[in-house]
Amino acid sequence: MNFVLIMSVFAQALLVISQTPRNKMIDYVKNLESVEHSKILVKDPDELNKKLENFICGGYEHLSIISDYDQTITKQHVNGKSQLHAFGILQRCPSIPSEVYKIVSNITETYKPLDRNLSIPESQRKIFMNEWWTKTIEAYKGLKISSEEMVNTTLKYGPPARDNAKEFFDLLNKANVPVLLISAGVGEFLEPLLIKMNICSPNVELLTNYLKLDEDGKIVGYKASPIHTENKNILDFKNTKFYGKIGNRHNVIVMGDHLGDVAVLDNLDKVENVLKIGFFYGNNESSLPTWLNTYDIVLKDDQTMDVPIAILKLLK
Ligand SMILES: *[C@@H]1O[C@H](CO)[C@@H](O)[C@H](O)[C@H]1NC(C)=O
Ligand SMILES: *[C@@H]1O[C@H](CO)[C@@H](O)[C@H](O)[C@H]1NC(C)=O
Ligand SMILES: *[C@@H]1O[C@H](CO)[C@@H](O)[C@H](O)[C@H]1NC(C)=O
Ligand SMILES: *[C@@H]1O[C@H](CO)[C@@H](O)[C@H](O)[C@H]1NC(C)=O
Repeated sequence: MNFVLIMSVFAQALLVISQTPRNKMIDYVKNLESVEHSKILVKDPDELNKKLENFICGGYEHLSIISDYDQTITKQHVNGKSQLHAFGILQRCPSIPSEVYKIVSNITETYKPLDRNLSIPESQRKIFMNEWWTKTIEAYKGLKISSEEMVNTTLKYGPPARDNAKEFFDLLNKANVPVLLISAGVGEFLEPLLIKMNICSPNVELLTNYLKLDEDGKIVGYKASPIHTENKNILDFKNTKFYGKIGNRHNVIVMGDHLGDVAVLDNLDKVENVLKIGFFYGNNESSLPTWLNTYDIVLKDDQTMDVPIAILKLLK
């Protein structure tokens, strides 16, 4: 094995850490102990301790958050039942003809297995994902879906927020920490849930795909070139309010449910400290080493926001 799997459950982690030489950073990691039901995997606890210390030093004034949306702030499953992404909700709009539904299902079945298959080179996965997003919108071209129908369908089929997500966003709002939610989904099917989850505070911004409609209200494409799972390194960041708010906030927490979610960091030039939290669920177990090399903290089937909250609470 090319990695040391130090923690499989947090109790084990604490055992390992208590055997390392004592230093003051240990206490910070111990502080996360209250998050006992989580399965926290950390490749390098010492490195994590150092990072936590830097984040605590910088406090809320130097913090910003970049997070994926689907399955990162929302649950990945509810009692084992997988939850729909924004595109899955779009597909369930009642006015979508069944032929189109079938075409889209076929496209999804073709491309979904390619998305997280690490045996396929990244450059090739990028091409496949671009095809997936392009073919999907092609299938919807010419259809008209009222915004009321979009909202209703989202509220009917949308996933719930992670447990305690509201507390997480309340802490960030109170401390005025800028949050950028980045999604390869569709804004029309993400915004109603943000409102329902009650996390639409002024510090939160959503960067995602939106549907482009013609003057009759028919879908003609995306408003901009699509954000998919493998191109988050080339986003149009400079136009976001978030970018303007960063200033000297050089401590960034990045959260995602996909290895491609950390690529957002390529859009920032002045990052000093990065803490990456990955929600691992439904992936091939053989990709776990790559996850541990990518994310500082890997949360295995944790459907709560408890670990990110525990980290924020360390910052006071
Ligand atoms: C999906 O589309 C491909 C390519 O157009 C076709 O060969 C295949 O039969 C379709 N599968 C289903 C289940 O419709
Ligand atoms: C992943 O991709 C490789 C290479 O294309 C292929 O051989 C393999 O069957 C794929 N695995 C799955 C689970 O789809
Ligand atoms: C949306 O839901 C509301 C409230 O349930 C209902 O009155 C309305 O008819 C629905 N509209 C559409 C287009 O489904
Ligand atoms: C998981 O990945 C391994 C190695 O890439 C592959 O051999 C295996 O078939 C995959 N399993 C599933 C269920 O996709």
